[in-house]
Amino acid sequence: MGRKKLTMIGGGQIGGNLALIAAQKELGDVVIFDIPQSEGMVKGKALDIMQLRPHDGYDSELSGTSDYSDIKGSDVVIITAGIPRKPGMDREDLMSINLGIIKDVASNVKKYAPNAFVIVISNPLDAMVYAFHKVSGFDKSKVVGMAGALDSGRFRAFLAMETGLSAQDVSCMVLGGHGDSMVPITRLATIGGVPVTDLIDADRLKEIEDRTRFAGGELVKLFGNGSAFYAPAQCAIEMAESYLKDKKRVIPSAALCEGEFGIDGYFIGVPTVIGSGGIEKIIEFSLTDKEKSDLANTLDAVKKTVAETNL
Ligand code: APR
Repeated sequence: MGRKKLTMIGGGQIGGNLALIAAQKELGDVVIFDIPQSEGMVKGKALDIMQLRPHDGYDSELSGTSDYSDIKGSDVVIITAGIPRKPGMDREDLMSINLGIIKDVASNVKKYAPNAFVIVISNPLDAMVYAFHKVSGFDKSKVVGMAGALDSGRFRAFLAMETGLSAQDVSCMVLGGHGDSMVPITRLATIGGVPVTDLIDADRLKEIEDRTRFAGGELVKLFGNGSAFYAPAQCAIEMAESYLKDKKRVIPSAALCEGEFGIDGYFIGVPTVIGSGGIEKIIEFSLTDKEKSDLANTLDAVKKTVAETNL
């Protein structure tokens, strides 16, 4: 049995880090695809990571290309193609440009890698993953958006920073759209099993929730010319790894709901089980009335963004 094959569509900030982490975790061989104008850049990144192998001791093969036929046989495709945010833009502002790009990517992935498990990262995420699914016609189990892992991870990081305790021991989930209306389920957040509501007072928790909601924008402002890339890359790799190794991890992700949580026909952040079957299951649990109304609110935001795709 040969190695698995992972393709990164878009070899920019996130794409480069995806390739690096995939190689370091020895998930398989990695192809970095980008448009012809950026072919040199992705060939260079692939070669640079190849030269890191003697130090790290891994054997994955990396290559860069702008020829879609090179993605043939991919087991996993991770999509970051598009433009990132600049200060003053929200994720929805990227729509017109990134929609055209995702449609092109979807038809090529359908043609060359029809059996891949596809993780979409491009923003506005909720619309991009919806558009990919529509255009490709892939089974819903094989298409997912990376958002909840990152939003939950940010919440976990902030709770760890607040308490001085290990981020590893913080467990929580953020559901809903990948925008300001996302819903941190603070009621269920724990540190080492202890409810955070017993560790941090309610006002401060509210501030941490708000920081989580705007965490992407906080970075856009600091960078001045781009958006987050280290954590987003790691999050997508976690999802890819759970698929390739059939780990069945429970990761909040933008999955197609068909009745779950009363949502029908939209990709939205919900707890998912990721294993060799792709998105094997959406785990439903009971929500409080406030959480239900917050979820209805975030669903409205997702519907609005999706409507703009005209798909
Ligand atoms: N096909 C493939 N790649 C493309 C295409 C296309 N049609 N159009 C653009 N790209 C490439 C760009 O050439 C660039 O290398 O996508 C890459 C995007 O990289 P960056 O600009 O560095 O953006 P990055 O920070 O990686 O973010 C990518 O993810 O989180 C989201 O909002 C973010 O939508 C953005 C995406």
